[in-house]
Amino acid sequence: MFERELAATAAAMVAPGKGILAIDESGATIKKRFDTIGVESSTESRRAYRDLLITPNGLSQYISGMILYDETLRQATADGVPFAEFMKKNGMLAGIKVDSGSKELAGASGEQVTEGLDGLRERLVEYKKLGASFAKWRAVINIGADIPSSYGIAANAHALARYAALCQEAGIVPIVEPEVIMDGSHTIERCYDVTERTLHALFEAIYAQRVRTEHLVLKASMVISGKSCATQASVQEVADATVLCLTRTVPASVPGIVFLSGGQSDELATAHLSAMNADGAKLPWPLSFSYGRALQAPALKAWKGQTANVAAAQKALMHRAKCNSAACFGKYSAAMEKEVA
Ligand code: 13P
Repeated sequence: MFERELAATAAAMVAPGKGILAIDESGATIKKRFDTIGVESSTESRRAYRDLLITPNGLSQYISGMILYDETLRQATADGVPFAEFMKKNGMLAGIKVDSGSKELAGASGEQVTEGLDGLRERLVEYKKLGASFAKWRAVINIGADIPSSYGIAANAHALARYAALCQEAGIVPIVEPEVIMDGSHTIERCYDVTERTLHALFEAIYAQRVRTEHLVLKASMVISGKSCATQASVQEVADATVLCLTRTVPASVPGIVFLSGGQSDELATAHLSAMNADGAKLPWPLSFSYGRALQAPALKAWKGQTANVAAAQKALMHRAKCNSAACFGKYSAAMEKEVA
């Protein structure tokens, strides 16, 4: 029913040189972020912060859309324009995080499963009315000595596919996000193995549940060394391993793949993306970004909760957005970082 609309939305999300800004932190997560700058998390401080991220002049040159949290989708700019309406007027799509977070998976110590399917069909109808044209669901895959199990991967893949099917039914493009977590001392080879198993299981579940691959966007984690692994893979190694893993598992019909930053530094996340897109790489899908922390970190630091710092914070955000846009063409270089200094 929504075929044309879904195709157009997905294409716009991964338009050349554009990526997605993730600002969908839950109440608990945004509080953690605000704690780092000594700002109290209140309805108004969260609104003011999201306002500065959504409204920079010309942001749509680099950003195709933003993933919002339920509260934010119902909030408005300082002038009273609902955020989703503001974004639409300024050439950006509004997205909505619809999962309700990950919980311990029964019978699987150390593993998690994402909740939020109950009532989702009805919530999606409301979100669409509020102006959302795409959604996000994040599954968490932890790496440890004996995990993830096939059971843990299958439970998460099943939920992701069920969510995606409901989104497509509602005319909303699903971002399917199986995040293989960076925490741990595992090697990049182990991360490759887990990511490959996860993506195979995901696309099998997507097929089994009649989700159309041409009407979804994959949000992937990069194949990368564990945060506390003694040997850290180079930028080129991460780029090569990630591209190999994706080409072996993701159907060519998928309109685009965007990456999460997952705790990488902002500059490293940009460098990895650029290396994957370097040298006229011929891939079946565009590779772009959907960073949260790696786009927001310098803006959050510059803001410090003060209205007087909004312009500086927006400048910092624009800079990261521009660098990541260049990375979509393989054209980012460390020299670009000096442009704002
Ligand atoms: P990070 O880029 O901070 O990992 O956030 C992206 C995101 O949306 C995770 O779900």
